[in-house]
Amino acid sequence: MSRVAVVGSGPAGLYTVAALLSSGEPVEIDVIDRLPTPYGLVRYGVAPDHAKMKAVTRVLAKPFAKGVRYLGNVEVGRDVTHEELLEQYHAVVYASGTEHDARVGIPGEDLDGVLGSSQFVRWYNGHPDAAERELVLDAREVAVIGAGNVALDVARVLSRTADEMRETDVPHRVLEVLDRSRVTDVHVLIRRTPTDARFTPAELFQLSELADADVILHDGGAGVDDPETAEDRRVRLNLETFRTFADTPPAGRSRRIHLRFLVSPTEIVGDGRVEGIVVEHNERGADGRITGTGRTERIPVGAVITAVGFRGAPPADLPHDEHGIVPSVQGRVVRDGAPVPGVYVAGWLKRGPSGIIGTNKPDGAETAAAVVEDLAALAARPIRGDLLQLLDERAVRVVDWAAWLRLDGHEAELGGSAGRGRVKVRDLASMLKQCLGA
Ligand SMILES: Cc1cc2nc3c(=O)[nH]c(=O)nc-3n(C[C@H](O)[C@H](O)[C@H](O)COP(=O)(O)OP(=O)(O)OC[C@H]3O[C@@H](n4cnc5c(N)ncnc54)[C@H](O)[C@@H]3O)c2cc1C
Ligand SMILES: NC(=O)c1ccc[n+]([C@@H]2O[C@H](COP(=O)([O-])OP(=O)(O)OC[C@H]3O[C@@H](n4cnc5c(N)ncnc54)[C@H](OP(=O)(O)O)[C@@H]3O)[C@@H](O)[C@H]2O)c1
Repeated sequence: MSRVAVVGSGPAGLYTVAALLSSGEPVEIDVIDRLPTPYGLVRYGVAPDHAKMKAVTRVLAKPFAKGVRYLGNVEVGRDVTHEELLEQYHAVVYASGTEHDARVGIPGEDLDGVLGSSQFVRWYNGHPDAAERELVLDAREVAVIGAGNVALDVARVLSRTADEMRETDVPHRVLEVLDRSRVTDVHVLIRRTPTDARFTPAELFQLSELADADVILHDGGAGVDDPETAEDRRVRLNLETFRTFADTPPAGRSRRIHLRFLVSPTEIVGDGRVEGIVVEHNERGADGRITGTGRTERIPVGAVITAVGFRGAPPADLPHDEHGIVPSVQGRVVRDGAPVPGVYVAGWLKRGPSGIIGTNKPDGAETAAAVVEDLAALAARPIRGDLLQLLDERAVRVVDWAAWLRLDGHEAELGGSAGRGRVKVRDLASMLKQCLGA
């Protein structure tokens, strides 16, 4: 029987596992995750007010009812090395995502009050890495840099009322902070035009449905192109929504989301902590190129959240580019142009940080197909040892599937007693207590 380890229990890892199982090959599969909890960004990225999206966990969980082992709270690179995995498994698939914030690359990015979106998203989603972060939303004006769906998530969560968020699974502590938030104005800083924005239409339209926030398009949206001229359906729908925003006068709600197009942040300013952000106004030339005009403006904000993408940090010994993405061909990791035997990659670590949950299904299937194709050759390599035994010797507190389900049940109970669907437990010690006992 061939043995395969999949590192990362996000959509990419679990879609790869599902494809391996449906290949009919006799394989034993272990899924390893650094967290006690499975599902990666489905649990800790997808916004709490997108509960329906999280229902995909029912599909992702299926392999664990078919003999696949879950080894949660095990970090590759800390608890076990890449070489040790290769000794124990015929194939190792890395699907560990891109967990770090990309940087904007401007002065002032390290001032107090500047936060990468991954930090902010982890905080509101109750990720254990953010449990120590006692955020205070005491700035009235906040800048969000970026024109992707993550920037929209951040702007939306900052603009929702506490009552709207009370219907979600955010931890009690997060709800308390959101309840006391002083934020009134969220400035979304977009360096190109409405036509270029990477938002998806449903997420953009959702801004118009917030209970107590107006959407304001600055400079009339820097000239929203005629939707009929757009060849791409996504762009056409976005342009229609931007036009509606431009045509709708503010209704005097308590909060405002300012969509500012054609501005590039050049500096975050402040004496130790954020007091403002300087942007350069851009223009679109006849050839469609965006260039700076040299005209700058200072927007007085007390906090900045950057949502300009992510970078990977694969375990040592894996080749990677400057963004931490692992080079591969059809899922086979390549070093200096040649495949590294027995080592594969899937998901954001393979493609870079773009694409929705569903994008990882064909991606995982491609990687699984490569593993299956290579298995006969890989199985000739002798392997030895059992990871669980090694982890036991190292006193690693492994969370198996049954242990995770105890935490899952506990969170549902917490939610039930608070009149909510689920309430997340956010610190690692309490999570492990629910999973494994004292
Ligand atoms: C803020 C945000 C919101 C999003 N919202 C949506 C949405 O609403 N709808 C949608 O369709 N898509 C959404 N996406 C996109 C979607 O989440 C991704 O396409 C998908 O999660 C990528 O899957 P992945 O498995 O490659 O990575 P991830 O989901 O990041 O999974 C990686 C897993 O690897 C684990 N890991 C990392 N390092 C190690 C290690 N060293 N050892 C062991 N385990 C490790 C992590 O704990 C994690 O569980 C969102 C993305 C973000 C960033
Ligand atoms: N609800 C959902 O379905 C959902 C929710 C969240 C995320 N996601 C998906 O997850 C993926 C990642 O989302 P994302 O928002 O992180 O990435 P993204 O879509 O790639 O957007 C990143 C944004 O950052 C901007 N940017 C990069 N560097 C910048 C700089 N130096 N200055 C100013 N702006 C800069 C980019 O601008 P340019 O466009 O000008 O390059 C881009 O608009 C996407 O595929 C997204 O659709 C989906």
